[in-house]
Amino acid sequence: MAKMQLSIFIAVAFLVFSSSTNAKTASPPAPMLPPTPAPAPAPHHVNLTELLSVAGPFHTFLDYLLSSGVIETLQNQANNTEEGVTIFVPKDDAFKAQKNPPLSNLTKDQLKQLLLFHALPHYYSLSEFKNLSQSGPVSTFAGGQYTLKFTDVSGTVRIDSLWTRTKVSSSVFSTDPVAVYQVNRVLLPEAIFGTDVPPMPAPAPAPVVSSPSDSPSADSEGVNANSPKSSHKNSAQTLAFAPIAMVVSGLVALFL
Ligand SMILES: *[C@@H]1O[C@H](CO)[C@@H](O)[C@H](O)[C@H]1NC(C)=O
Ligand SMILES: *[C@@H]1O[C@H](CO)[C@@H](O)[C@H](O)[C@H]1NC(C)=O
Ligand SMILES: *[C@@H]1O[C@H](CO)[C@@H](O)[C@H](O)[C@H]1NC(C)=O
Ligand SMILES: *[C@@H]1O[C@H](CO)[C@@H](O)[C@H](O)[C@H]1NC(C)=O
Repeated sequence: MAKMQLSIFIAVAFLVFSSSTNAKTASPPAPMLPPTPAPAPAPHHVNLTELLSVAGPFHTFLDYLLSSGVIETLQNQANNTEEGVTIFVPKDDAFKAQKNPPLSNLTKDQLKQLLLFHALPHYYSLSEFKNLSQSGPVSTFAGGQYTLKFTDVSGTVRIDSLWTRTKVSSSVFSTDPVAVYQVNRVLLPEAIFGTDVPPMPAPAPAPVVSSPSDSPSADSEGVNANSPKSSHKNSAQTLAFAPIAMVVSGLVALFL
């Protein structure tokens, strides 16, 4: 009888002891500290260099942005303005295909202008281009003479200039104030290349055979459209949703 009481006592004592040590290890912070509030979601900052180096491949465009210093202009617009920025980024393939006219002949200033021609000093979501298509030619970041025309063709945004016909082939990132859209061609401003455009690939009136590289960069719909895009699209979408997920989880944390 006494033996049993002793063993119960030991068992109880062990339980009390172990639970008190558990409690000690489970709540390390001293109870004197006030509860720390959930941290507010960090202000969202998009590092364009980082974004362009992981998406794409956009290495050619990014290298041009870095070597010309235009990256600073765009990053500054993204960081410090309410307007935000929209950037049209050709893939490396598009730069490889850009033979006529060649970009290698451009002066430093012309190259800068060409790069700025790929950006608008305002954030546009894809759906807002429908509106833009009604407003005629839109001035780009390169200035008033450097305009692009946008048309919404059943959800696809087409981009036209005298020299270039292309389209937004995928949305890489789009969260106000920064939009980055992939395009299939390098955009060529007539303010640099002039109005003497080689004939578009239309039925030639005379049987003069011209090599396809003589014609301006028109998109062959569908050829580029389906091929290696799906994997990029996935990563692009993940990228685009990451900040939203961050904000959502931040909000949840606030309400808990
Ligand atoms: C942006 O990202 C690049 C590449 O990851 C890095 O070298 C650079 O320091 C970053 N800039 C800022 C301001 O965080
Ligand atoms: C943009 O913001 C980041 C983070 O605040 C900062 O490190 C970077 O220097 C800024 N860049 C420009 C060009 O304003
Ligand atoms: C580019 O430069 C090369 C040689 O420097 C020249 O032969 C060619 O005509 C130039 N092309 C254009 C479009 O100016
Ligand atoms: C479209 O344009 C009209 C008038 O130009 C403007 O009132 C409206 O807010 C615009 N809608 C969007 C989504 O930008």
